[in-house]
Amino acid sequence: MSDILTIADLKELARRKVPKMFFDYADSGAWTESTYRANEEDFGKIKFRQRVLVDMSNRSLESTMIGEKVAMPVALAPTGLTGMQHADGEMLAAKAAEEFGVPFTLSTMSICSIEDVASVTTKPFWFQLYVLRDKDFVLNLIDRAKAAKCSALVLTLDLQILGQRHKDIRNGLSAPPKMTLANIVDLAMKPRWCLGIAGTKRRTFRNIVGHAKGVGDVSSLSSWTTEQFDPHLSWKDVAWIKERWGGKLILKGILDKEDALMAAETGADAIVVSNHGGRQLDGAASSISVLEEIADAVGDRIEVHMDGGIRSGQDVLKALCLGAKGTYIGRPFLYGLGAMGKEGVTKALEIIRKEMDITLALCGKRLVTDMGKDQLRR
Ligand SMILES: Cc1cc2nc3c(=O)[nH]c(=O)nc-3n(C[C@H](O)[C@H](O)[C@H](O)COP(=O)(O)O)c2cc1C
Repeated sequence: MSDILTIADLKELARRKVPKMFFDYADSGAWTESTYRANEEDFGKIKFRQRVLVDMSNRSLESTMIGEKVAMPVALAPTGLTGMQHADGEMLAAKAAEEFGVPFTLSTMSICSIEDVASVTTKPFWFQLYVLRDKDFVLNLIDRAKAAKCSALVLTLDLQILGQRHKDIRNGLSAPPKMTLANIVDLAMKPRWCLGIAGTKRRTFRNIVGHAKGVGDVSSLSSWTTEQFDPHLSWKDVAWIKERWGGKLILKGILDKEDALMAAETGADAIVVSNHGGRQLDGAASSISVLEEIADAVGDRIEVHMDGGIRSGQDVLKALCLGAKGTYIGRPFLYGLGAMGKEGVTKALEIIRKEMDITLALCGKRLVTDMGKDQLRR
């Protein structure tokens, strides 16, 4: 544990512990993966201004996201199949986030259900909604999130159809994995993962199975999900979703300032500047490269969050400098989870916190909320 110093260290450990199909599912982008790579690489082009002889005592990373107090402005992003990185993964990650004081977002395509996560947490978490063709199911999902006292609904806008990730097709991705020869050989080398999964009843999409019409077992689920994402979704739909939900609403997957302005018109509470971690439109801009333009365009009409490519506390600070009020991490917490379960998620958050704290000080600031454009070299 003491030699784990970076998110990259957690990634290498996860590579050894998690079955190949699920590690690859996390570590992949659409088609050539150029946007996936750009998300990370473009952070490296941004440089801080180093300042000296400034009083660095009493530093604080505390802030707010959609009015909720956060220990640092870094939420856990919604990720599908998280319970396949580690048994009961969503429940463990939610507990780690709660103890740390940052928001956890549960995906519609999670393994553990809304109710599973609610049963192990004491503070409200956020729920991410995919709008599917089966509207009764969607309405019911919104009501279930309300009943579980989720404090925000994160509506994902950038997955009306699924971007193609070659690795998932080649690996025959499924939850749980099919018992092919290649999978059996791979699983034989991941005994801790197998024991965990053998010891839990949560092995398929529990938000869906038993709740959606015609989905009673796992075999019907794969065809159901590919057919179910709704290509008709439009800006008009945001209104009925907002009305049914009645609470804080976050619109995720904005990459263009025209869309950001339309999102602000909906009366939602925040947008997430995001390209789905490079998993949808390969060839789209990196999130960090469009953040400033979008934040400037919307001004204070709507709160701006961002995700994509954050691998360190420095990346978080760069996003804050360029106009984000909050950020999300996807893969960094998944690697932690795959590497070491709940402890690994905490480790990922601790790594990011330490990097943020030291960087803040060396930039001559004491409060994370004071980071702005003038902390960057331009
Ligand atoms: C394995 C994986 C699964 C994901 N599943 C979802 C999902 O179910 N819903 C969603 O809105 N975004 C999903 N995303 C996108 C994340 O919410 C987030 O936008 C992205 O991971 C941020 O980039 P990062 O991984 O570089 O931090 C997923 C991302 C990954 C890596």
